[in-house]
Amino acid sequence: MVAGNWKMNTTVDEGIALAQAVCAAVSGTTGVDVAVLPPFTHLWAIRQVLEGTGVRLGAQDVFYRDSGAFTGEISPAMLAGWCDLTLVGHSERRHLFGERDDEVGKKFVASLAHGLEVIVAVGETSDERDAGSTFDVVERQLDAVFAELETPPSVDDWVIAYEPVWAIGTGRTATPEQAQEVVAHIKQHVRARYLDGAPRVLYGGSVTPANAASLFAEPDIDGALVGGVSLRAEEFSVIVAAAAEAIAGRATA
Ligand code: 13P
Repeated sequence: MVAGNWKMNTTVDEGIALAQAVCAAVSGTTGVDVAVLPPFTHLWAIRQVLEGTGVRLGAQDVFYRDSGAFTGEISPAMLAGWCDLTLVGHSERRHLFGERDDEVGKKFVASLAHGLEVIVAVGETSDERDAGSTFDVVERQLDAVFAELETPPSVDDWVIAYEPVWAIGTGRTATPEQAQEVVAHIKQHVRARYLDGAPRVLYGGSVTPANAASLFAEPDIDGALVGGVSLRAEEFSVIVAAAAEAIAGRATA
């Protein structure tokens, strides 16, 4: 899977044009689950652009209640039936907007309840990495999600994105080995709770056309959550093509 998190970028018109360019640029590539996550204001219009292209539509966040006096929030009920997925727990939500682990868990559960696939993002800060607590942090963030669940959802309905905070928007990508180590640990941790397997785990944080193939060559990395480069359709499509090649390589391995 390669998903483009546009963050708070583009006007509606620019976003429509970007979505069209992304669809054109990835149209020859098969086998990769491609998604774009535009701002909320763009979603309805971009849904029409994506129709029939195979590129899926995601929201960058969602609230966990269906309706009510929650000024400024968007509920999963509002997205259900026409938007494919939501992203919850992005580090910018956690660190800039003070989102707590339990709120991320509630958003996860509410999305699934409305038939939306979910990408749940986890990752440590640079201080946490330096303190040697990377595994503890991602386990805590995941356990908070599991704590909100009454029954384990199918692993086909959710995806984890491992995004080390120090690698986001910094140009300082985790090395493939660093990313692989944490992604493998995440899968092992999830498997310990879900006997039927682990969901796909993406890596995010300064993914570019130059480093995508080496990240995808790692056995446990199942794709990328791309920020800055997802605003440039041609470069984004090179990352999608690298994912397609990695899939082909795994199939013959
Ligand atoms: P960058 O690719 O810009 O580092 O952003 C990563 C990210 O936060 C994706 O969600």
